[in-house]
Amino acid sequence: MKKLLIISASPVAEGNDDTLAHLSAEVCREAGADVETVFLRDYTIGLCRACYACADTGVCVQKDGFQDLLARMHQADGIIVTAPIYYNLPAAQILVPLNRLCCTFACKSYVVGPKKKIALMFTCTGSDPVEMKHIADLVLNLPSIHRSVEAYRTEVFTSCLQHDTCRKNEAYQERVRELALWTVKE
Ligand SMILES: Cc1cc2nc3c(=O)[nH]c(=O)nc-3n(C[C@H](O)[C@H](O)[C@H](O)COP(=O)(O)O)c2cc1C
Repeated sequence: MKKLLIISASPVAEGNDDTLAHLSAEVCREAGADVETVFLRDYTIGLCRACYACADTGVCVQKDGFQDLLARMHQADGIIVTAPIYYNLPAAQILVPLNRLCCTFACKSYVVGPKKKIALMFTCTGSDPVEMKHIADLVLNLPSIHRSVEAYRTEVFTSCLQHDTCRKNEAYQERVRELALWTVKE
């Protein structure tokens, strides 16, 4: 059975990103996957201090929510991330844990987890989807990340002017279903 981790990065409960996360979870469960959803607003995750203490051990010296998140990421065969765009970038809520992946490249003996399918879903009002996808490409093609990635896809949901935009937009929901199914498929 495929293990799917769904990460919602929005600070807003039941907003657009949670809607996409819930729908993804439903689709993946129906497809037979073992699904868990985490909400980053429930985590306390500090900023990477660039101390490189992790270079020797592969373990970050900061003991906070990141260890739990990293353990869940390791176990997953697929990860779906839903995140709002703030200032033409994925929100800090997802960039902060991304920076904490320092231990995964700084430590030579770090054990990389199984290769995963990654689905990124960004919600925004008017940012350019091509540019937002380019940001995803820049991150996911970094060698230290790419070695854990089997394949990835990015979808950008624009015109999310209200927190219930995605809940009301059936065309968006169809795109979410397709992407979630792609993530669980062999
Ligand atoms: C601080 C802040 C900055 C934002 N910056 C952008 C932006 O640069 N481009 C954009 O299209 N939308 C921007 N937005 C709008 C959100 O990305 C959008 O409303 C998103 O769908 C909210 O997701 P949620 O309902 O899950 O909270 C911004 C919103 C906030 C709060």
